[in-house]
Amino acid sequence: MHMSATQRTLAVIGQGYVGLPLAMRAAEQGYRVVGFEVSETRVESLAAGESYVGDISNDQLRAALAKGYLPTHDPAQLAGFDVAVICVPTPLHEGLPDLSAIESAGALVAPHLRPGCTVVLESTTYPGTTEELLAPILEDGSGLKAGVDFHLGYSPERIDPGNQRFTLLNTPKVVSGTTPEGLAAVDAFYSDIVERTVPVGNTAEAEMTKLLENTFRHVNIALINELAVFARQLGIDVWRVIDAAASKPFGFMRFTPGPGVGGHCLPVDPSYLSWRVEQHTGRPFRFVELANDLNASMPNHVFERITSLLNDDRKAVNGSRVLLLGLAYKAGTSDWRESPSLPLAELLSAARANVVVCDPYVPDVNLHDLPFSTVPWSPEELAAADIVVVMVEHPVFDAATIARHAPLVFDARNHLRGQQFRGATL
Ligand SMILES: NC(=O)c1ccc[n+]([C@@H]2O[C@H](COP(=O)([O-])OP(=O)(O)OC[C@H]3O[C@@H](n4cnc5c(N)ncnc54)[C@H](O)[C@@H]3O)[C@@H](O)[C@H]2O)c1
Repeated sequence: MHMSATQRTLAVIGQGYVGLPLAMRAAEQGYRVVGFEVSETRVESLAAGESYVGDISNDQLRAALAKGYLPTHDPAQLAGFDVAVICVPTPLHEGLPDLSAIESAGALVAPHLRPGCTVVLESTTYPGTTEELLAPILEDGSGLKAGVDFHLGYSPERIDPGNQRFTLLNTPKVVSGTTPEGLAAVDAFYSDIVERTVPVGNTAEAEMTKLLENTFRHVNIALINELAVFARQLGIDVWRVIDAAASKPFGFMRFTPGPGVGGHCLPVDPSYLSWRVEQHTGRPFRFVELANDLNASMPNHVFERITSLLNDDRKAVNGSRVLLLGLAYKAGTSDWRESPSLPLAELLSAARANVVVCDPYVPDVNLHDLPFSTVPWSPEELAAADIVVVMVEHPVFDAATIARHAPLVFDARNHLRGQQFRGATL
């Protein structure tokens, strides 16, 4: 621990999947934590001890509040921080990086900069953002110079929502600074927060590290998805092939096919890298484009397989009750941003299916404008469907129960392996 006798103040900008766990951990480690959040309803919920992030329990949140954690949307509360960490969203807008939240977070923090303080960006973004975009905003708003008067760095987030084994605490954290002193300051801060830091040479390297990790995953999922589609046409069970290949103890890494990628990372982050590459070199990043295409086409593939299974039962999609198991994009989480269940539901509903979705992990969906209704997890709902589609292998979706009660199944995750059921697997 690097804690000095006086309590250090941490400001975290953005209290979402990334910012809230950081705020909780820092409070636990003795920091005075100010959690700035633009959404007033989120601030109210936090102040009331109600967590909206799956990985943070109400008990954890309440313990942090008891230690002085202050959730707020009042910028004045940012005054006097020693370290500020920016954890705001970096989405795509019409296929292009949208850095407006980083810009506004920078403008918010800048007036409160003091000599010797440290600012770290955690949002996933293209290499160059910290030095080219954030530094000038902080300098203009403070009159101070990055790397001279205050420290500036970048540290990519590796939060894997729902992962109980690897958390913020025990996942190594890559850290960087715009100067050696900046790196030392950023490293000292994260050494209070996580078990192991991994210093790199500069902020662009740290920014690109994150994009490499996510692009690697995106490309490999696309490879295995394409293989799954072709293996079926060749009459080969791709799942058994993957298991066999995974017995190789070196040089192979297991990826499994699925109905598409979702969440805030894989469908978005690789495009930050390809945008930067194309902007700088004029050349397309072909692997990223190919992976985007292949992964985005998977809901269409699932739609075709559902259509053909119903057809075998002399049923049309039109009028069929299709039960999608899973709105979240992956097992064990409530995160349904960019979930492949959404485009699949659109396709089915455009073909006039009666689409119902079951996801006990996502309890309060505002169904306004969504092309489906929601139903609870029950044998009756399984039996009432013309076809049940396993989109996500949530632990509650008991495979034997699905096999027993669903009249027809399309299993996009091989969740029912070993069960006897009517239907097909991706
Ligand atoms: N969720 C993940 O698993 C994950 C993993 C690694 C990296 N990331 C990256 O981390 C960043 C944050 O992602 P997240 O999942 O925490 O997003 P999130 O949407 O859960 O949280 C972001 C929060 O910031 C708030 N916000 C938006 N603009 C703001 C502003 N100008 N000032 C203050 N608050 C603002 C939002 O209301 C929201 O509560 C993104 O760049 C994302 O790509 C996310």
